[in-house]
Amino acid sequence: MILLIGNWKMAPKKSTEALSLAKKTLEIARKYKKSIKIVSCIPSIHIPFISKTIKNTLYIGGQSVSASTEEAQTGLISAEMLASYGTSHCIVGHSESRERGETDEQVLSSTLLLLQKKITPIICIGEKQRDAQGWYLSTVKSQIESIVLGIPKAQLKKIVFAYEPIWAIGKNAAREATPVECREMLIFIRKVISDIVDIKTANTISILYGGSVNEQNGTSFILEGGANGLLVGRISLDAKRFEQLAKTLSLVS
Ligand code: PGA
Repeated sequence: MILLIGNWKMAPKKSTEALSLAKKTLEIARKYKKSIKIVSCIPSIHIPFISKTIKNTLYIGGQSVSASTEEAQTGLISAEMLASYGTSHCIVGHSESRERGETDEQVLSSTLLLLQKKITPIICIGEKQRDAQGWYLSTVKSQIESIVLGIPKAQLKKIVFAYEPIWAIGKNAAREATPVECREMLIFIRKVISDIVDIKTANTISILYGGSVNEQNGTSFILEGGANGLLVGRISLDAKRFEQLAKTLSLVS
């Protein structure tokens, strides 16, 4: 089963547009449910009314969660709040949140709180840029270590990693990553995990690819890149292109 996660980021702007996009995405999820599991990670303000309308087949996810249960945190939302609206997944450590100051320690705390509430954490990791000497590998390694060393082994199979090279994300991306770059990094990620725990555990963790994924390149990150699924930003806001992507994935799953 391929995991296809849509990261809506701070869009759509209006509640009516959000509901309409959720309904269209639900149709896509229904059509391809045999081979693809679709999760829409939507702005938290839209979660209550969308989760009321969209109940089956399309999974609703959050985009961030507080790293603590302390109530005095103006503007933040807790894992418990997400759980109370039936949220099944939540992105943590997205590069845009890390850019705003989210630390590795907070990513770990948020992950643990989500696991406590039975919400699947989608933990984003990835380097800002690549260098010929391979120093970027140590950035990714320390992001993985801070998570894997902090989670009980039995819980590790419940987490999802999303490898998102920051240089390949969004409309200002330097370029798209190649499936080979994706494959090499995914091998590296599993190796780092297996060095901490063991190969068997490392192989149970789903690893997604994200960064300028579209209906043309999506399957290559699965087939040649070795990813277990995709984390998709811009294309998840365009129902037609998202459907096309789902369709191509269903053909290779
Ligand atoms: P993009 O965003 O698909 O628009 O590059 C991906 C992400 O930031 O998760």
